[in-house]
Amino acid sequence: MQPDFPNKSKRMKSTHIVKQDYKITRKDRIKLLGQNPVLIWLTGLSGSGKSTIADKLEQELHVKGYKTYLLDGDNIRHGLNNNIDFTEEGRRENIRRIGEVAKLFMDAGIIVITAFISPFKEDRDRVRALVSEGEFIEVHVNCPLAICEQRDVKGLYAKARKGEIPNFTGISSPFEAPESAEITVKTAENSLEECVTQILDYSFIRIKP
Ligand code: ADX
Repeated sequence: MQPDFPNKSKRMKSTHIVKQDYKITRKDRIKLLGQNPVLIWLTGLSGSGKSTIADKLEQELHVKGYKTYLLDGDNIRHGLNNNIDFTEEGRRENIRRIGEVAKLFMDAGIIVITAFISPFKEDRDRVRALVSEGEFIEVHVNCPLAICEQRDVKGLYAKARKGEIPNFTGISSPFEAPESAEITVKTAENSLEECVTQILDYSFIRIKP
């Protein structure tokens, strides 16, 4: 099934629109919040540990007083992106929207953590290009497929192997691992705490005003 975009038939772009400038800027909001927004982008196979890491990471930042927001693939696909499938085109649109949403949150001065498989390099690089240099922190949540499949927390790998889920990442749809991610965490080798510390150590330098 193709994604059901409102403009699908014509692929129309909006025309005759002019950008508006407002008095309160991103700079003002950043000053008020006392933090530099970054986009901590977790990418990895289903079951690699993205959501678990994102959850712990957000808690650590939150208790230290940082303003955060977490965008999670499974959750966003229940709402904003509930009209998107897992074809290549669907995933591209999924990630494009998340990039734009993350940019809005960053414009509001918020630190954004995302947990999406985001299997295609080109899509991730497009998001990277949306934000300023140094603000995009790509984190490869690296875990061998065999271990993700063994964990099979949601029971989806078993279904995918039986052919019940088409285009399943790692089984019948590719995952393009990042070549030069800012951070790689190995969830099969290191503890949750170690992985989160690794991400925090890198991110704090960019977040602190
Ligand atoms: S992405 O590829 O478009 O970035 P996203 O992170 O939003 O994926 O959603 C992935 C989640 O959707 C998985 O964790 C899994 O629970 C569920 N899912 C359902 N179908 C698939 C599929 N075909 N491939 C991968 N994940 C799937």
